[in-house]
Amino acid sequence: AIYPVILCGGSGTRLWPASRADRPKQFLKLIGDRSSFQDTILRVMDLPGADEIVVVTGEAMAELVERQALELGVRLTVIIEPEARDSAPAIAAAAAYVQSVSPDGVVLMLAADHHIAEPEMFREAALVAIEASRTGLIVTFGVQPTSPATGFGYIKPGGVLPGGVKAVAAFVEKPDLATAKAYIEDGYYWNSGNFAFTARTLLDELAVFEPAIRDGAIGSVRDGRRDGVRLHLDREAFATTTKKSLDYAVMERTSRAAVAPAAFTWSDLGAWDAIWEASIRDAQGNAASGDVHLIRSKGVLVRSTGPFVGAIGVEDLLIVAEPDAVLVCRRDDAQGVKTLVDVLKASG
Ligand code: GDD
Ligand code: MG
Repeated sequence: AIYPVILCGGSGTRLWPASRADRPKQFLKLIGDRSSFQDTILRVMDLPGADEIVVVTGEAMAELVERQALELGVRLTVIIEPEARDSAPAIAAAAAYVQSVSPDGVVLMLAADHHIAEPEMFREAALVAIEASRTGLIVTFGVQPTSPATGFGYIKPGGVLPGGVKAVAAFVEKPDLATAKAYIEDGYYWNSGNFAFTARTLLDELAVFEPAIRDGAIGSVRDGRRDGVRLHLDREAFATTTKKSLDYAVMERTSRAAVAPAAFTWSDLGAWDAIWEASIRDAQGNAASGDVHLIRSKGVLVRSTGPFVGAIGVEDLLIVAEPDAVLVCRRDDAQGVKTLVDVLKASG
């Protein structure tokens, strides 16, 4: 049995003012009329062999998760974390749940905040990864890098393994810029942040590298409370897990890693320039949504969920209007939004 598990924990600071603490980016309708969380569900709901779709999220987001799934007519199992402890405890709890219902179950772990332009290609790669995972591998999806971005994991591919995947010769999470540049020269992939493994494989690897995460996750499911489609993890048991991402907890250390090369167009929608990039644009390179109008403008993303926005004779700008805040930013300066949010936080 295959269990798609969607991790829904991020915030998306660089997508202010649309993204806020109580409205993280994976639930925003940033591209087209569905959120990336909804697109993630749609990518896997018809995957051959897929059983129930599982979401791991915090209490505060559970209603939003259920509402957006309902819009698609999809029923989910929602695992609720008592607190955010990064991705390794979250996915470990999901693996413990899967193993309790299906001892040989395969987990297809999915980030909720990615855009994949060709869902069909994703499904093909996922089926390859799932088959390979049944032999005890932890399979990543390797994306062709387009810049030496430091916010990603880098994968050095090794020899070809049965089933069309490659061994992982090295996995390095978030290298510095100089190292990332060297990796690109050397033909490393980006780690897409999606994985396939059996629940057993992941829990076995955690037993070696992070036993507190394994034990706490298993305990949090065993002592958890079921309430309809929700599984509330036990607070005390979950609190004993180590706060760490899966990349540091397992991927940098395991010898069972493999990589399925992925040809789909992938974006983690990190900042507004990436939203412009992934959006459908007109002949002038403009992407517009909401009550907006552009005149003699080029290469502009303009989006409003609040007031009417008009712009004349502007180029390569990001303009994002919400009812209570407006962002105007050069398209090549989109990372600066984080600084702006820090300033806002500091000034209360
Ligand atoms: N439920 C839950 N709880 N989900 C979480 C938590 C948590 O405490 N922390 C993170 N997540 C989810 C995020 O919502 C996202 O879907 C996924 O786990 C990855 O977390 P990020 O915080 O976005 O990780 P990252 O972007 O820094 O790095 C990862 O993704 C990159 C690709 O986007 C790594 O896997 C990198 O190696 C990879 O390149
Ligand atoms: Mg991310």
